[in-house]
Amino acid sequence: MAKLASFVCQSCGAVHAKWSGKCESCGAWNSIIEEGAAPPIGGGAAKRAKGRPFALEDLKTAEDAPPRRATGVAEFDRVCGGGLVAGSAILVGGDPGVGKSTLILQALAEYAKRGGKAVYISGEEAMGQVRLRASRMGLAEAPVALGSATCVEDILATLDKGPAPGMIAIDSIQTIWTSALEAAPGTIAQVRTASFDLVRYAKASGAALILVGHVTKEGQIAGPKQVEHLVDAVLYFEGERGHHFRVLRAVKNRFGATDEIGVFEMTGEGLQEVANPSALFLGDRSGQAPGGAVFAGLEGTRPLLVEVQALVAPPGYGTPRRAVVGWDSGRLAMILAVLDARGGLGISGHDVYLNVAGGLKIGEPAADLAAAAALVSSLSGRPLPQDCVFFGEISLAGDVRPAPQAELRLKEAVKLGFSTAVVPPGTKIQNPGLKLREIADVGALVDFAGGGAAGR
Ligand code: TYD
Ligand code: MG
Repeated sequence: MAKLASFVCQSCGAVHAKWSGKCESCGAWNSIIEEGAAPPIGGGAAKRAKGRPFALEDLKTAEDAPPRRATGVAEFDRVCGGGLVAGSAILVGGDPGVGKSTLILQALAEYAKRGGKAVYISGEEAMGQVRLRASRMGLAEAPVALGSATCVEDILATLDKGPAPGMIAIDSIQTIWTSALEAAPGTIAQVRTASFDLVRYAKASGAALILVGHVTKEGQIAGPKQVEHLVDAVLYFEGERGHHFRVLRAVKNRFGATDEIGVFEMTGEGLQEVANPSALFLGDRSGQAPGGAVFAGLEGTRPLLVEVQALVAPPGYGTPRRAVVGWDSGRLAMILAVLDARGGLGISGHDVYLNVAGGLKIGEPAADLAAAAALVSSLSGRPLPQDCVFFGEISLAGDVRPAPQAELRLKEAVKLGFSTAVVPPGTKIQNPGLKLREIADVGALVDFAGGGAAGR
C-alpha cells in the first residue's frame, strides 16, 4: 500500500488530503504543513514500547488546595483566582500596546519585593528598554532577575542552573523559538513547541509560568489555539483606544472563576489598580442629556455601575445605520425589534448608536433594560432621572425578566448615591436602601422612560 502523507492544519488540527494555503475547516492561512504519514492502524506494533500499567485511584482522595502565589497586585491576583498556582501556566493575551508588558513587570516586581524569586525574560525588548520602563514605574529597585532571550533551550538551560523561581514571565511567546524545529519564530509549530517545553518546565519545577501573547485582529491569540489548551488559565487584557483604563478578564481558568475582572488605570507611572471601578466608569457622565442610562451590572463577584449611552437619529437615506461600542450588535437589533413590536415604538427605521461609556464591554443580558431605557429616552428627547439605575433582561415577548444578584447590584447603587432602581417585577429585597420601581414589560418602560409619548 502506498504511504499517504497527511497535511495537518497547525491551528485546528484538521487533516487534509493535499496542501492548500487556507485551511477549509478553521479558515486560518498558511497553517497547513505536511506531517509524516501515520502508521496504518494495527501496524507499526513492532516499534512500540510495551506499556507499563499504572494505578487507578478514586475521586475522593483528599488533596490539599494548590498553594497560591499572590503577587500583591490585588486586581491581578483576583482574576487569577487568588494568586498564581505553583506549577501552573497562564497566558496573558491582548492587543499590542495595551500594556501587557507593563502589567507583568509590575506583578513580578511586586512579587519580588515581597521576597519571591521572579524571572522576567523579554524576547521583544532589549534589557535597556525594560530597565527604562521599570525606572519610569518606580520599580527599578525590585529584585527581579531580568534576561533577554528568545531561544527556549537557552532559557531552560539558564533556569536549570539555579533553584526554580517562584514566578517566570516570558514576554512574548511569539518571539520564542526552539532549535528543534526549522520553522521561523512566531509560526504555529514554533510557538506550540516552545510553550510546551516551558509549561513542562513549570510543571516539573513548581514555578508559576506567565506567557504573554499577542492577539490578532479577530481577537484570537496569534498562533495556535493549542497554546490555550496547554495553559491552565487564559487572561485577556483589554482596553479601548483613547481610554486610559484597562480590564483584565479571565476567559479560561482551571483554578478559579472565569467571570472575574480586574480594573486598572494606565498612568504615567504604570498601571494603577482601581478598587472602585463604578466611580471611575461613572466619572464622566453626560449630565442631563437624553439617552444615558446607568446599568447596575455585575462582573464576576463584583458589582459595577456603567452608563449605557444611546443616540437615536432620524433616518438618512437607505438602510438605517447601526453602530455599537462595547455592546453586541445582535442584541441591539433584538432590543430594537422588541421595542417596536411590544412597545409600539417606531424606532427600527432610525439610525441607532449605542455606546458603553468608558470603553467597557458588556456581555450580561441584564443590561437589556438599561439599553432599552437609553434608546427610548433618546428617541423621545427626554432625559432619564439622574438618580436612577436599571437592570433586567428583556425577553422576546417584551417581558422584563429577573437578573441574578439583585441585592449586590442595589448595594453598589446605594453606595454611589443613587436613590431609585428600575428593576424586574418580583425583586424582593429587605431594606434595599433606595426606591424600587418594578417594570414588568417594555410597554411600561416606554411610559417610564419616554413619558408616555416617546415617538408615538
Ligand atoms: P506595553 O506594556 O509595552 O504594551 P504591550 O506589552 O501590551 O505591547 O505598554 C504600552 C503602552 O503603555 C505604551 O503606549 C505606553 C503606555 N505606558 C504608559 O502610559 N505609562 C507607563 O508607565 C508605561 C510603562 C507605559
Ligand atoms: Mg510588550
